[in-house]
Amino acid sequence: MAPPSVFRPGLYRDRVAIVTGGGSGIGKAIARELLELGATVLIAARKEERLQEAAAELTADVSGVETAGRIYTKTCNIREEDQVQALIAHAVSEFGGLDFLVNNAGGQFPSPAGAIRTKGWNAVIETNLTGTFLCCREAFSQWMEEHGGSIVNIVADMWRGFPGMAHTGAARAGVDNLTKTLAVEWAHRGVRINAVAPGTIFSSGFDTYGPFFQPVFLAARENIPARRLGTEEEVASSVCFLLSPGAAFISGETMRVDGAGSLWRLNWEVPDHDNMPPYGGRPLPGEDDPGA
Ligand code: ADE
Repeated sequence: MAPPSVFRPGLYRDRVAIVTGGGSGIGKAIARELLELGATVLIAARKEERLQEAAAELTADVSGVETAGRIYTKTCNIREEDQVQALIAHAVSEFGGLDFLVNNAGGQFPSPAGAIRTKGWNAVIETNLTGTFLCCREAFSQWMEEHGGSIVNIVADMWRGFPGMAHTGAARAGVDNLTKTLAVEWAHRGVRINAVAPGTIFSSGFDTYGPFFQPVFLAARENIPARRLGTEEEVASSVCFLLSPGAAFISGETMRVDGAGSLWRLNWEVPDHDNMPPYGGRPLPGEDDPGA
């Protein structure tokens, strides 16, 4: 059971929010907190069944909260421009506007960079980077350009590259940069746009990682100064803060929610090797002379 929000009850009354990827994991946790705080929340994802399950679960979760909002669902593949246009149009026509957009939908698969095929690369870029751009653009052109609004993009701990998932590292770094650009271009329209970069989060997606990746994932705590994984609720509350009036002067920022993990050790071992000889071939102290 999720802990109660730290924010004021009813903070988001009369506010309309879209959360992409809101049917599971971090997106569902974000939707739950917005709902608890009184927002009308439209969760979007590709699978109708998952959305319905999530909506029922979230409704039950906030059933004791008098000031809670209402949850709605709409299927949307964010890689398809017409579906993104329809998603934003739906929020505007059904709920009278769009105050908040949370771009949480994303997906990737582990693979060494050299083995990523073009099709897989393009799929990850289209979902994480292009899909996020399309949602931002449509939210802006259909509503926020005239009325203002607040957007939060969910990225990742890609600050030192993303060994093992090059495609998503490149896409998320692209979203970090997009966030900065849009913060500047759209400020005069009253639009704030920020990002949250979660570190290793123990999420409901854990079960899908499989027996090889699960222990690797759990071992990540060794490399996090907080000495634990993060929780979905810790990401959700950061998003709720960035959307809130308390963050009224924050735009173009990417907030790390990672227990200081990105400041310390990376979950990646570089094999020992001597394949990068220094210029001129002169050995450095402690190294063999390549010419000897
Ligand atoms: N979650 C993962 N991929 C998605 C997509 N293409 N559209 C919406 N939600 C997603």
